[in-house]
Amino acid sequence: MKILLLGSGGREHALARALARDPVTDELLVAPGNPGTATVATNLPLDIADPAAVAAAATARGVDLVVVGPEAPLVAGVADAVAAAGIAVFGPSAEAARLEGSKAFAKEIMALAGVPTAMAHVCTTLGEVRAAMDDFGAPYVVKDDGLAAGKGVVVTSDPEVALAHAAACLDRPGEPRVVVEEYLDGPEVSLFCVCDGTDVVPLAPAQDYKRALDGDAGPNTGGMGAYSPLPWVPDGLTADVVDRIARPVVREMAARGTPFVGILYCGLALTARGVRVVEFNVRFGDPETQVVLPRLRTPLAGLLLAAARGTLRDADVRWGTGAAVTVVVAAHGYPGTVRSGDPITGVERAEALEGVHVIHAGTRRTGDGLVSAGGRVLCVVGEGDDVAAARARAYAGVAEISLAGSHHRSDIAARLEAITVPE
Ligand code: AMP
Ligand code: GLY
Repeated sequence: MKILLLGSGGREHALARALARDPVTDELLVAPGNPGTATVATNLPLDIADPAAVAAAATARGVDLVVVGPEAPLVAGVADAVAAAGIAVFGPSAEAARLEGSKAFAKEIMALAGVPTAMAHVCTTLGEVRAAMDDFGAPYVVKDDGLAAGKGVVVTSDPEVALAHAAACLDRPGEPRVVVEEYLDGPEVSLFCVCDGTDVVPLAPAQDYKRALDGDAGPNTGGMGAYSPLPWVPDGLTADVVDRIARPVVREMAARGTPFVGILYCGLALTARGVRVVEFNVRFGDPETQVVLPRLRTPLAGLLLAAARGTLRDADVRWGTGAAVTVVVAAHGYPGTVRSGDPITGVERAEALEGVHVIHAGTRRTGDGLVSAGGRVLCVVGEGDDVAAARARAYAGVAEISLAGSHHRSDIAARLEAITVPE
């Protein structure tokens, strides 16, 4: 089988690694890819935000399956164009991708499907924002309605900070909307559900670290590290989320004539009042993919093709017994204005360590070697028999890497015994 994977971040390098080792994969193309994907696949220059260009490239190269990594091409209609060209595609239509593209739309679907989530008000003026904040009280949760690469959300107890974020969102052109939500208290879990329009197959839960600094301080980011499995998670959580959240949403989307094919990423909070959806994404999470896929024993390409073809029902998903931890090495300034072009050394030394591999997220190869080219630069992954062993390996790998001005969290997958699920 010939596969075209779209994207250029850490998630795509992790996906490429898994797809490349599947025996059914004869050829793997990654567009545009990065220096990491180039080690396991052939990179292809392509404007992946252009649906017609992607469909034409997939047709010209005789591709059997297109796998879409990031959300932006999905929201732009890339899956629709590829499907219209008669090629199997893993990723939802533009209409179904609105589950991530619009937080207000996601709230509407959750209400129709009876899915538990935070109470919310959709606001178009600062006056409405103020009223909603008064309604819910502190801490305030204020979200940009549209796509914002994980950085459109502010959670704060300072009303001025909350209002300033709302004002910045409402200042955008178009018809900007802001979602103000009830604060959800409790540990967060990311669960990826593979969907074929009708059936749902869950992958293993992972936990992401959203804040920039140790102790969950600092601004929200795209994610600074992750681990899987989650030893503290209650038995039955995955089955419960599939039954009460993923299946009802997939049924609702099918009933509307916009079936959901791809990953329904359920971002969850385990609160005292039960599981609540924090957000949906319509693609694999980054960096959670980097710790979920190394544990997957079922070949990935076959699973994604079954979802694209609507034959997931027979899928059998198996897991290894070990654990994986990833630590993100971020560029100077991330998640604000980042500095690019700093030389990176030590990747080979890190990868020479047992149970360590390095995923490229924002790198570029120049005549002088590897340099930084993005906010999240590398994801160092450690694998081991349990989370503690995997964590030790991930940090041993990080210690080998040099990147001027970089920062990483030192508490990824630490102190898991302190995580409690409220009763
Ligand atoms: P989102 O983009 O909606 O996933 O939000 C990013 C992060 O903000 C989440 O992973 C949470 O850590 C935090 N967050 C979002 N919504 C809420 C909420 N209602 N209550 C508490 N934290 C939230
Ligand atoms: N790690 C969070 C996300 O992928 O949205």
